[in-house]
Amino acid sequence: MYRVVTSEDLAPNIHLLTVEAPTVAGKIQPGQFVIVMVDEKGERIPLTVSDWDESEGIITIVFLEVGMTTYKLAQLKPGGHIFSLVGPLGLPTRIEKFGTVICAGGCYGIGAILPVVKALKKAGNEVVSIIEARNKSLLFWEEALRQASDKLIVTTGDGSYGRKGWVDDVIKGMLAEGQRIERVFARGCTFMMMLCSEATRPYGVETTVSLSPIMVDGTGMCGCCRVSVGGETRFACVDGPDFDGHKVDWASLMTRQNAYLEEETESLNAWETKAVGK
Ligand SMILES: Cc1cc2nc3c(=O)[nH]c(=O)nc-3n(C[C@H](O)[C@H](O)[C@H](O)COP(=O)(O)OP(=O)(O)OC[C@H]3O[C@@H](n4cnc5c(N)ncnc54)[C@H](O)[C@@H]3O)c2cc1C
Ligand code: FES
Repeated sequence: MYRVVTSEDLAPNIHLLTVEAPTVAGKIQPGQFVIVMVDEKGERIPLTVSDWDESEGIITIVFLEVGMTTYKLAQLKPGGHIFSLVGPLGLPTRIEKFGTVICAGGCYGIGAILPVVKALKKAGNEVVSIIEARNKSLLFWEEALRQASDKLIVTTGDGSYGRKGWVDDVIKGMLAEGQRIERVFARGCTFMMMLCSEATRPYGVETTVSLSPIMVDGTGMCGCCRVSVGGETRFACVDGPDFDGHKVDWASLMTRQNAYLEEETESLNAWETKAVGK
């Protein structure tokens, strides 16, 4: 059992938990994730570790409440417990001194990009972070990202804060102006990462995305997380989750992500009915 230390709403439907997990906190590297089971009968879901404190043995997960498991997780209070937590899983993000890099985050990816930003900065890169949200109320960790980056650009879809638009608009603008960007790292929903990859494709700027197919074991055994990259089948849990965004077959990824939508909706409805009935 893994004790919840803090539980906090960062934005509507975006939740943060800090959890006692000393083994993970001692080994985790940027880009890696854990698989949690909220209770004994719960499903296994992967979540990126967005921050950690090795000395305290604590990790931070930031997640979007989209279905039954993430709703259950968001209800945990400090002192509560997560039944199982396995990690670190996946390959760490490749960190090197590239030059000027863009780190793009949207949705839960605003949290997930922070360790990558910190590591790239530490490796001597000039880091421009760009974050997006539909509106101002959905933004979080702006200050932490500003501190960790050389420059932070904030965008909102409705223009309620920062620049109006999305991260890929800013990336396109920078590249069209001739700014030299060595590499782009994008974290967030699949659509956003696809658009970032399309923005950089004409300029040949390598774009690393962190894919989020459905996973079960997270150790390369079940085949559930298979994705097509450069025409080859790869397992996101052991070969990724980072891949070259220009080579990902986005259409098949999205189709596979939605394969159980009906069952997921049913299970959420059943759980909500039970929870209300209690
Ligand atoms: C490597 C990796 C890292 C991730 N990191 C984060 C993160 O830091 N924060 C965050 O909010 N989300 C993250 N996700 C996505 C997260 O795992 C799903 O949102 C979560 O599983 C949804 O579960 P649910 O029961 O709440 O919703 P459900 O109603 O079960 O599912 C909603 C959607 O989530 C996806 N999903 C469902 N089950 C799984 C599963 N077992 N594995 C992967 N995706 C699933 C499906 O596309 C589905 O359509 C990550 C996914 C991967 C693969
Ligand atoms: S989750 Fe089973 S092989 Fe990746």
